[in-house]
Amino acid sequence: MIHLENVSKRFEQESVLCDVNLHVAPGEFAFLQGRSGSGKSTLVKLLYREIERDTGSILIDGVLIETYPKYELRRKMGVIFQSFDLLERKTVLENVMLAGQVIGREAKEIEAEALRLLKRVGLEKKANVRPTVLSGGQQQRVAIVRALLNKPKLILADEPTGNLDPETASEVLRLLRELQQEEGVAMLVITHSEQLVQSFSAKSWVLDKGNVYERQ
Ligand SMILES: Nc1ncnc2c1ncn2[C@@H]1O[C@H](COP(=O)(O)OP(=O)(O)O)[C@@H](O)[C@H]1O
Ligand SMILES: [Mg+2]
Repeated sequence: MIHLENVSKRFEQESVLCDVNLHVAPGEFAFLQGRSGSGKSTLVKLLYREIERDTGSILIDGVLIETYPKYELRRKMGVIFQSFDLLERKTVLENVMLAGQVIGREAKEIEAEALRLLKRVGLEKKANVRPTVLSGGQQQRVAIVRALLNKPKLILADEPTGNLDPETASEVLRLLRELQQEEGVAMLVITHSEQLVQSFSAKSWVLDKGNVYERQ
């Protein structure tokens, strides 16, 4: 699902990624762990082409990412950030449905899917409230539902638990793991926390000094 081969990226004098190889199979769950500033978000931005790599190749779903128009590439993936990024003036349901509306799906169909997923994450009663009244953990669950709405083949979660207390962080991560299996989606969860990674048994990649290796 994700295939990076000898990918390098530098910003002016700073070499951030250096001949990086990383693979995530279809339907697979994996972590990418590395210290703050190690280049994790840079790698994520390369995957959805917010920035471009200097060398190497990146394949998503078996195809070099330049082959797709950007909108098509981005439709293959759901992205989740530390900051939730929900619209304050819209309800929870509207926030989720927007992801389907922007790609032109039919309202009835996306509403049914949004409600199914909101129920799955325990938020069916919050469908009509504004996200601002929700806790951080609840807001992140809304963002997770939004990322899953269009049935992407891949979810990229960049520090999805970075704004949450440790207990809520574990809960959200457990939920992500369950949904990954239930929905059959590949998922790359990015975190600085070695502790979080060690509390789950899952494949993990480590980013350190520009190099990526698989943790044994
Ligand atoms: N657009 C940019 N221009 C210049 N330097 C950048 C840019 N984006 C990231 N960097 C630098 O690249 C390094 C890695 O950043 P980042 O990928 O955000 O790390 P992480 O997500 O692991 O904390 C940092 O030193 C950061 O300052
Ligand atoms: Mg980051």
